[in-house]
Amino acid sequence: MVAKDEFRHCMSEFATGVTVVTTLDDAGQVHGMSANSFTSVCLEPPLVLICVGHSTNTFGFVEKNKRFGVNVLSAHQEDIGRYFARRPEDRHDDVDYEYTMSPGGVPMLEGTLVSFECHVVNSHVHGDHTVYVAEVKAVEQGKPNLPLLFFQSKWFANGAIW
Ligand SMILES: Cc1cc2nc3c(=O)[nH]c(=O)nc-3n(C[C@H](O)[C@H](O)[C@H](O)COP(=O)(O)O)c2cc1C
Repeated sequence: MVAKDEFRHCMSEFATGVTVVTTLDDAGQVHGMSANSFTSVCLEPPLVLICVGHSTNTFGFVEKNKRFGVNVLSAHQEDIGRYFARRPEDRHDDVDYEYTMSPGGVPMLEGTLVSFECHVVNSHVHGDHTVYVAEVKAVEQGKPNLPLLFFQSKWFANGAIW
């Protein structure tokens, strides 16, 4: 059995981009959560997946709404990535972000590399997370830019990790 901390540490060796998963909360307000468990599943139909922890607020909102946005952050959006990684009670409106609503009613952040409107088609509970498989119904492509990266629990902007 691999211990939780060792597993977390080993997974941090896998460099990823950073997304913000956006939903609407119970009051219809925009809610976001930084996430790097995003990946494509298949091309036809266009399916993606995210893994959402059961202790997050996002879990309840995705369970209810059955749709979410995935916003791929660009290099200049580290402040947004850090902001949405905090618990909501520790977010003090100290970061500016703009969004538009997609045709299907999902918040799409401005200034991203690309944003996806996703509709849940299946979910799988595994331990303390649920894997949501979702169909991409709309995309908004941003201006070309370098990505925000996450590696060994650190943030890297401007595409350079060395
Ligand atoms: C780089 C990074 C990636 C993360 N990826 C995920 C993820 O894929 N799934 C998840 O449930 N939490 C992930 N988290 C943790 C959430 O962002 C964090 O728990 C957040 O506070 C949840 O917000 P919420 O409770 O308002 O939904 C990640 C955190 C960081 C810093």
